[in-house]
Amino acid sequence: MNRRKRILTGDRPTGKLHLGHYVGSLQNRVALQNDFDTFIIIADIQALTTNFDRPEKLKGDVLNVAMDNLSVGVDPEKATFFIQSLIPEIAELTTFYSMFVTVNSLRHNPTIKSEIQQYGYNDIMYGFLGYPVSQAADITFCKADLVPVGDDQLSHIELTRRIVRRFNELYKPVLVEPEAMVSKISRLVGLDGNSKMGKSLNNGIYLSDDAATVKQKIRAAVTDASRIKLSDKGNPEICTVFKYHNAFNEGEVNHISESCRSASIGCSACKNNLTARINNILEPIRERRAFYEDRPEQVLEMLISGTNKVRGVAKEVMKEVREAMSIGYFDNSGCC
Ligand code: TRP
Repeated sequence: MNRRKRILTGDRPTGKLHLGHYVGSLQNRVALQNDFDTFIIIADIQALTTNFDRPEKLKGDVLNVAMDNLSVGVDPEKATFFIQSLIPEIAELTTFYSMFVTVNSLRHNPTIKSEIQQYGYNDIMYGFLGYPVSQAADITFCKADLVPVGDDQLSHIELTRRIVRRFNELYKPVLVEPEAMVSKISRLVGLDGNSKMGKSLNNGIYLSDDAATVKQKIRAAVTDASRIKLSDKGNPEICTVFKYHNAFNEGEVNHISESCRSASIGCSACKNNLTARINNILEPIRERRAFYEDRPEQVLEMLISGTNKVRGVAKEVMKEVREAMSIGYFDNSGCC
């Protein structure tokens, strides 16, 4: 039977989602949900890799991330949301994979390396080093075909593909090798201009920020530092605000670039223009959020029914996995 292609993607619930998530992955989810069977994972176990000392935060963050997805227009009628920790098959599959994934392949993963730097770890936790293995289980337990993600996730998808090939060759070819799908602009610099927009870096615009907050954040954003007077000609290539125009203001981006170079627009007017544009994009998102914030029980119900549906898929695929691995030796022994 020709089944509909399946998408799996999702987020760690470690705080509110921001515009970097929006351009990197959320926009793609909304666009693709009509044509694909869409699964959205709320990866609360993965969030524990860095938040294991504050597990009490998770419940609120799970709801927040669900609200963020709903507010950008992921439609609960089309997409299936589920909670990672309630699918024990993912943990089981992670364990199986971890038998043949090497420590060196994880140590060399560029995303892991940069996160080690970012968090300032000198010794790393076993679960943190291994979270890409768990992510491979997130993607493969439901035989996902496509994974829309920001480019920082590409090394994890590459590992997933290697795991699938290895598993299929070691045992039986039951797993599906997924493909990554990266959006045109898959990374957004922070307002401070230095690094990517990060939840822990405090340099982002959140989907839940109100209009005044957006205005104030953009006013403080970094521009071309050598442009001091209005009559100084600017260089958009080194301007953070311009990068945002490029991501969110496609219609005007060329005009803005020229006006900056010829000094016919000043930084303050350019920032006001961007503020208006971003607030325009965020306004319907704020409205949808307000709708769901008034109905938290509806959001919770959606998470539970989605998780139940996904659990059924997980059980079926895990049956195939155990059969492929010939580890059903005590299946009919009457044991639990
Ligand atoms: N690692 C992703 C992030 O930090 C979240 C995630 C967990 C994910 N499991 C996934 C993304 C599976 C895509 C597919 O945003």
